[in-house]
Amino acid sequence: MSVFAVDGGRRLSGEVKLQGSKNSALPILAATLLCRGECVLHNCPRLSDVEASLSILRYIGCTARREGSTVIVDTGSVTRYDIPAELMHRMRSSIIFLGALIARFDRARMSFPGGCELGPRPIDLHLSALRAMGADISEEHGELDCCTQERLCGANISLPLPSVGATENIMIAAATADGTTVISNAAREPEIVDLADFLNVCGARIRGAGESTVMIDGVERLRPATHVMIPDRIVAATLMSAAAVTGSNIRLTGVIPAHLQSVFPVFRDSGCELDIRGNTVRISAPYRLHSPKLIRTMPYPGFPTDAQAPVMSMAAVADGMTVFVENMFLSRYSHVSELCRFGADIRVEGKVAVVDGVRRLLSADVRAHDLRGAAALVAASLCAKGQSEIRGIEYLERGYEDFELVLSSLGADVKKI
Ligand code: UD1
Repeated sequence: MSVFAVDGGRRLSGEVKLQGSKNSALPILAATLLCRGECVLHNCPRLSDVEASLSILRYIGCTARREGSTVIVDTGSVTRYDIPAELMHRMRSSIIFLGALIARFDRARMSFPGGCELGPRPIDLHLSALRAMGADISEEHGELDCCTQERLCGANISLPLPSVGATENIMIAAATADGTTVISNAAREPEIVDLADFLNVCGARIRGAGESTVMIDGVERLRPATHVMIPDRIVAATLMSAAAVTGSNIRLTGVIPAHLQSVFPVFRDSGCELDIRGNTVRISAPYRLHSPKLIRTMPYPGFPTDAQAPVMSMAAVADGMTVFVENMFLSRYSHVSELCRFGADIRVEGKVAVVDGVRRLLSADVRAHDLRGAAALVAASLCAKGQSEIRGIEYLERGYEDFELVLSSLGADVKKI
């Protein structure tokens, strides 16, 4: 188990270039299966979830290598359509391979991705959509066995909620299906647009990505392509939270500000000054933050659930009360009890967390239970004067590339043990 030892209470300063987006990289890596050749993916972050996707691709028979932040995947000679349980369980998002495998082989076999630290994470929407497209899917003994008699067929799919993963799985499966697929109430996240951009460069015909209705005209086959992943908006929100809790002034480069339109107001309401020019964002935090009052997580373009935990660290030291309403996942407050060890005053009831800002946090030894919760604890430790230890850093490494080095480059005292 990796541990961060943090000597908190230092101001941060300097500049960070954002890593590529994890949530873009995962579906795009799965989608390379449709391309039957060598795809070159730039700005692909070095993360354990990305490595898990590469392990799945290699198991299936692809070659995959990394050169710095570029990943080169050759899906020309795949030999298998099954994913073993061990690989499926390494990453909850491995279900994203389902649509790609069926599209490539007309078959797929994999275990359920399993439970999740965010509460139950069902895949019913993925399965019903693929069934509507003609896939025959049996679910027995925790295994999914899928086949189609012929090519998948286009279908009209209306999602009861705008699931990111289901929208992506359908887009990938529909790219080479017979006919047109229309997804209503599709997720609108920037990562959906990034996936569509990649698939379209490969020859797919997808319109409307980023809007509620996405139309996919199936094509015969896709060709390999080169793509640059978008920057990670959640890492941006996390670094802004780290700057805010430490009263710092830092500059983020390689940002797409449009992706953070629901996040910026929270920082402004907290008294931070934001200077946004082109693809850079400078944040200057005040000596004492104001409470951002109310934060409700919503599907994009609403406030992202992935930024809820890091921003809660900020609310923990803000002047006044902040109410969080977590609308996306049932169990996404596992960081709360650990933030309280730093002296934060937070009460949770159901999907609501009420944070009464304290003047300062105290150093503590804490344990992360999920990816974004880990980021929240790191932010809190940066603000708490003295030595803190954060266990469970392997969660952080699912989504943050070399985070201790990034923070150290800004002047934080963070060591990975
Ligand atoms: C993706 C992101 C994750 C983010 C989440 C919400 C990736 C790799 N992960 O996760 O970082 O927190 O979007 O923005 O992109 N649901 C169902 N049935 C389904 C699918 C989903 O009920 O078949 C529910 C989920 O339980 C959850 C909600 O829909 O409550 C949103 O989930 P979804 O958008 O699918 O999230 P993920 O794609 O898993």
